[in-house]
Amino acid sequence: MGENSFGTSKTHQKSLDSVPASKEADGLKLEGIPAFNRERFLQRFNEFSRIGQDQSGAINRPFGSEAEKEARGWITAMAQEAGFTVTVDAIGNMWGGLAGQHEWPAIAIGSHHDSVPDGGRFDGPLGVLMGIEVLQSLREAGYENRHPFTFVSFTAEEPNPFELSTMGSRTISGRLSQEKLLAAKDWQGRPLADAVAEVGGNLQQVPQARKTAEDIAAFIELHIEQGRRLEKRGIPIGVVSGICGIYRELITVTGEANHAGTTEFPDRRDALLATSEMLLALEQKIGSLNNSSLAATVGRLNVVPNAMNIIPGSCSWSLELRSGDMDAVYALRDDLLPSFEAIASRRQVSISREVLLNQQPEPMHEQVISTLQTMADELEIPYAPLASMAGHDATHVASFTKAGMLFVPSIHGKSHCKEEESRMEDIERAFYVLAAAVRHLDTALAGGRKLQ
Ligand code: HGY
Ligand code: MN
Ligand code: MN
Repeated sequence: MGENSFGTSKTHQKSLDSVPASKEADGLKLEGIPAFNRERFLQRFNEFSRIGQDQSGAINRPFGSEAEKEARGWITAMAQEAGFTVTVDAIGNMWGGLAGQHEWPAIAIGSHHDSVPDGGRFDGPLGVLMGIEVLQSLREAGYENRHPFTFVSFTAEEPNPFELSTMGSRTISGRLSQEKLLAAKDWQGRPLADAVAEVGGNLQQVPQARKTAEDIAAFIELHIEQGRRLEKRGIPIGVVSGICGIYRELITVTGEANHAGTTEFPDRRDALLATSEMLLALEQKIGSLNNSSLAATVGRLNVVPNAMNIIPGSCSWSLELRSGDMDAVYALRDDLLPSFEAIASRRQVSISREVLLNQQPEPMHEQVISTLQTMADELEIPYAPLASMAGHDATHVASFTKAGMLFVPSIHGKSHCKEEESRMEDIERAFYVLAAAVRHLDTALAGGRKLQ
């Protein structure tokens, strides 16, 4: 994978609660930047991490779940305690922050609070809680912001039963239509409109949720890296150059359900065995391409009727392809189809396909990148430019304003699993870079309403 190549510029550690911040991190001071309130952050982070956490330590907080609603209540109460009022837009995104001296577009920081199934504690909440922490700390230090400073927690960043990921950021960017939102239902047929209403949104008012550069002058998302590149190189901060494109299809293979004991092999039309052959063909194809910046994953299978004594009648599965180069994605997809069709024909099953997502790669904005790099330089924190093979809300925000991302290393590169972990001292460094960047942009963007 290219280290920093998407688009042009536009050793196991202990758990978070037991790792003391390093001495070095105590020296991270820039004039006017408040000290990181480590204990407060940690206490909040650990408290939040309990929401949706099971006995094994895994987090289940998908959009539409009780845990996700509880997370919203917790964020609202915590933000209130910190002196902020939270408002919820039409798609359920949560916003709050500090009014500025001027009615200029806001400088925003944040991420998402939902999780993948059996996910970790850091993916999303780190950026949300840090957004609030940075704003609270700047206010406590007496910083007088000229732009409004805003934190945001986006709705449904992760895939969910409504089959719409990055729902909140896509909606405010105008990339998800009201019509599509109104038509969406979950796997049980529950309308998305009901789930959004339950969290304080209103799909009838989706057009009002739309944001432009007139509303947000710049956006920064702090996130875990979710890979091993920073850890391997011993670098504590990644400055994201761009975010990969993601293509998803739902493929349904239909065969024939029949008795598991009495149906002779030549008479079977087994949808799961046909699917299995297709997946092995996919693995072989991607192996032959030898392209480390192209990822292919089948992470979900739904076998029907999923019974021990019935030959699978149908099997629906997700095909996800990622790259910074969508031509490579489309070429792989187009290459796979004839082999899938040949397998289907030989096994006498049929295939239908539905495109769920066709998200283009997005470069981060040069001014936000250079601000983050300059602040890291001034703080004497080593950083590396990185292209992200994970998707993020920042990819959509980048479509209408100046957006950038900051990564902290993931221990052993673990993410989307309960082992997801990052070191407190890296998080502390990120706080300083973020606070300095927000302050810097407050001056650099002063008075400006137009993108440079
Ligand atoms: O799927 C992703 O890359 C992200 O973590 N939502
Ligand atoms: Mn994720
Ligand atoms: Mn995330």
